[in-house]
Amino acid sequence: MAISAVSNVLRKQFQAESEPAADGRSTPLSASSADAPAAQHAAAGAPSALGTVVFRDLGKVYRSSAGEVPALQNITLDIAAGSIFGIIGRSGAGKSSLLRTINRLEEPSSGQVLVDGVDIGTLDEAGLVQLRRRVGMIFQHFNLLSAKTVFENVALPLKVAGVPAAQIQQRVTELLDLVGLQDKHKTYPSRLSGGQKQRVGIARALATRPEILLCDEATSALDPETTQAILALLRDINRRLGITVILITHEMSVIREIADQVLVLEKGEIAELGEVWQVFGNPRHAATQALLAPLRHGVPDDLQQRLQPQAPGTGRFEQVLQLGYSGHDGLEPDFPRIAEALGAKVRLLHGGVDRIQGHAQGQLIIAIDGAAARNDWAALTQGPATIAHEIRVLGYVV
Ligand SMILES: Nc1ncnc2c1ncn2[C@@H]1O[C@H](COP(=O)(O)OP(=O)(O)OP(=O)(O)O)[C@@H](O)[C@H]1O
Ligand SMILES: [Mg+2]
Repeated sequence: MAISAVSNVLRKQFQAESEPAADGRSTPLSASSADAPAAQHAAAGAPSALGTVVFRDLGKVYRSSAGEVPALQNITLDIAAGSIFGIIGRSGAGKSSLLRTINRLEEPSSGQVLVDGVDIGTLDEAGLVQLRRRVGMIFQHFNLLSAKTVFENVALPLKVAGVPAAQIQQRVTELLDLVGLQDKHKTYPSRLSGGQKQRVGIARALATRPEILLCDEATSALDPETTQAILALLRDINRRLGITVILITHEMSVIREIADQVLVLEKGEIAELGEVWQVFGNPRHAATQALLAPLRHGVPDDLQQRLQPQAPGTGRFEQVLQLGYSGHDGLEPDFPRIAEALGAKVRLLHGGVDRIQGHAQGQLIIAIDGAAARNDWAALTQGPATIAHEIRVLGYVV
């Protein structure tokens, strides 16, 4: 992105008509007509959970000379304050379009977006400025200003907001400590690694003490180790500062590791929505299944080639079973119980179990002695005898 475009985005994002409040926290959002619940809460001195987002029957159609492109339809959902909310979907599914309606970088064609109970479509210019101070954003390619130092990049939104220099000094120092860049104040972005650049992006997004942080593929340009470090930082920010984090990613492992809830978008509509362990443990929609395929422990090629569909008539052989765990009812693989129930010693051939939000999920491919083979193991997937949520006979090996 060209520098002028970057500064435009930043200006749109951070422009403010006045200084932040004395505690540095921006005042609650209010519509021009304004008797929003959040504002009432704050006025009453009640503890308010700021950072909720509600989409109500949202639709977006892009209109260009080439015609109309429907990008979002029938989007109705709530994002809880202080949660980490993941958005996944195939390329072109509408993820960025949806995310960008939260700070009105994109205007919906129909429906509403409510932030802390306020329909942001009703905000006037000043309200919009406030909104953009409360909703920080980080980008895949960081969008830093290359001619400015790390300090200046992070200071920019505060400067635009007219914060006095001494306060800027203090706040930026605090932020660079928070993201682990205390020794990089005077460094220019070109001398930073990708992970360090994203840390600057995060510090800059947090400068105005937002209650919501939008992340559009914030780790897609980073190597796996740096991705882990940035995820840990985002989780830390979410927990310590109570900021709602809404993130788009193509990396399912990112969602698995840090998100509370996940939305699967397909062709602009909600394909699935729910807690991550529920959606990942039992993906119903073809789009979700396709997205999650890389995480599944499928049958490895060498085993697939050796598998026979029928048990051999003579000689020793083994039956190969796939045991599935969906995360429900606290059920986990328990090998002594599995062996006892199957009436055979168990050989683990492939697979594994992940823990998502405390729920064990995955597939195990095991082999048991042919003498114990049965065609149907469904009895062991129900009631007190349950050893797995699903048991499939994959075939036989000699
Ligand atoms: N400014 C625009 N003008 C016209 N069409 C657009 C515009 N921005 C996005 N679209 C179209 O809207 C649809 C949704 O795009 P969007 O960028 O939201 O998808 P996405 O899920 O973020 O995809 P990706 O994973 O590739 O980033 C696509 O069909 C896209 O071509
Ligand atoms: Mg996108």
